[in-house]
Amino acid sequence: MFIQRLYALPEYAWGRTYFYFGIAVLAFPVVIGGLAKYRFKKYQTAVDLLKMGDQEHKPQVVEVIPEEELKTVIKIKSPGISLDKFKAKSGDFQAAFNQTVEDIQAEENQPNTIQISISRYPLPSMVSFESHLMDLKNEGEFMIGQSRRGFILQNIAELPHMLVAGTSGSGKSTFFKQALIGLMKSSPDAQFILIDLKRGAELGVFAGVPGVRVAKTIETAVSLLRDAKEEMKKRFDLLEQKGISKIIPDIHQVPRLVIAIDEASELISIPSRSNPEKNLMLEAREITNDIAKLGRAAAINLLIATQKVHKSIIDTALQENLGGRMAFRMATLANSASVLGSKGANNLSTNPGRSLWQFGLKTLEVQPPFIEEKKIKRLISDLKEKRTALIQPSTAEKMQAEGQPQADINKIGRTNIDRTYAEGTPADSQSAGNTV
Ligand SMILES: Nc1ncnc2c1ncn2[C@@H]1O[C@H](COP(=O)(O)OP(=O)(O)OP(=O)(O)O)[C@@H](O)[C@H]1O
Ligand SMILES: [Mg+2]
Repeated sequence: MFIQRLYALPEYAWGRTYFYFGIAVLAFPVVIGGLAKYRFKKYQTAVDLLKMGDQEHKPQVVEVIPEEELKTVIKIKSPGISLDKFKAKSGDFQAAFNQTVEDIQAEENQPNTIQISISRYPLPSMVSFESHLMDLKNEGEFMIGQSRRGFILQNIAELPHMLVAGTSGSGKSTFFKQALIGLMKSSPDAQFILIDLKRGAELGVFAGVPGVRVAKTIETAVSLLRDAKEEMKKRFDLLEQKGISKIIPDIHQVPRLVIAIDEASELISIPSRSNPEKNLMLEAREITNDIAKLGRAAAINLLIATQKVHKSIIDTALQENLGGRMAFRMATLANSASVLGSKGANNLSTNPGRSLWQFGLKTLEVQPPFIEEKKIKRLISDLKEKRTALIQPSTAEKMQAEGQPQADINKIGRTNIDRTYAEGTPADSQSAGNTV
């Protein structure tokens, strides 16, 4: 009563404010903790139903992460209970949570913590590339994968560059191959420079496809990047000459140029002083940065795959220009944050290929399309028949030296841009200002 009257006096107005503020500060953690416990309660009840562990080692729900509102990750501290025991109870968890259990795995770097992912809309464990092939209709389109909100197709022109990252064996090269075949199908005139310094183990299959140049050694890679830089310069001259702000391949009859670098760290990371290829690597790093900065207007796109993202591998300026990000499974939260700016890729399901697609403000979990090895060969031999040959002479000898098929060398011709200069472009006025 006394206190009430005291605080009712006007001169205590400030004191009153501090008093309430202090109470609010003290109560905040209690309220948050209470809410969290309440949120965990239904999951804890479900876990208790399974009667795992003894009284002293009962599994405890320690974190519940709602992801994309259609999936929930539950973290359970469970000393003394193995991952296999949790996996064996997968069906029981499914019944207890009344949702599909997508994945059960041990939390990396957190001993005794198991992570269970549940969803009402589970993603498929495998998505067929061929069942979506007919969906690719527009120039520049390729597949990202199945999300919980539908199948995602992306136009490379909107990105215009992309980063693919993830730990070893997570699905980067598989994604690269399907994206490239998709682009070759949707964009019959597009040209490709494919760099695979693992001696072409992944992208070597594309050698011999008209309009596709594959580099398996650092010398060829840098030579092709120099060609690309030259090409970019010519395209900027053309933009100036025509008074247009960007090239739209279908309208200006200038083909899109896609540069894909698998295992980018081998080519564009900062080399050690003793590295005999250091000058070539530094040059590749510089050209890649230039293309990332300026390529959009010239219809030149970069796809870069790497296991880790660090400024010593991918320059910070280059990172900023890689608009689309495909994050496959990452070992740590720090690795995930380096690609997506947030955690998530470290909590992904262990299902092969599972990844997070980030573009603009959206980050969606996806299952990208998969193509079996022998189907890749069939699709590529179809492409060999259909595509037009547009290969620059400057790199031909090097490709021959690397033992690439004779077909590549025989089909050397002028690039489309040379043809455009020689023959003149169609009316550009209508396209000026269009977004690419
Ligand atoms: N989208 C997918 N759907 C189904 N399986 C997949 C998918 N992606 C990858 N896999 C499986 O995972 C294996 C490894 O994938 P991949 O070679 O693409 O990984 P990576 O990230 O390139 O590995 P590394 O860093 O070692 O080169 C594939 O051989 C395939 O069996
Ligand atoms: Mg790979």
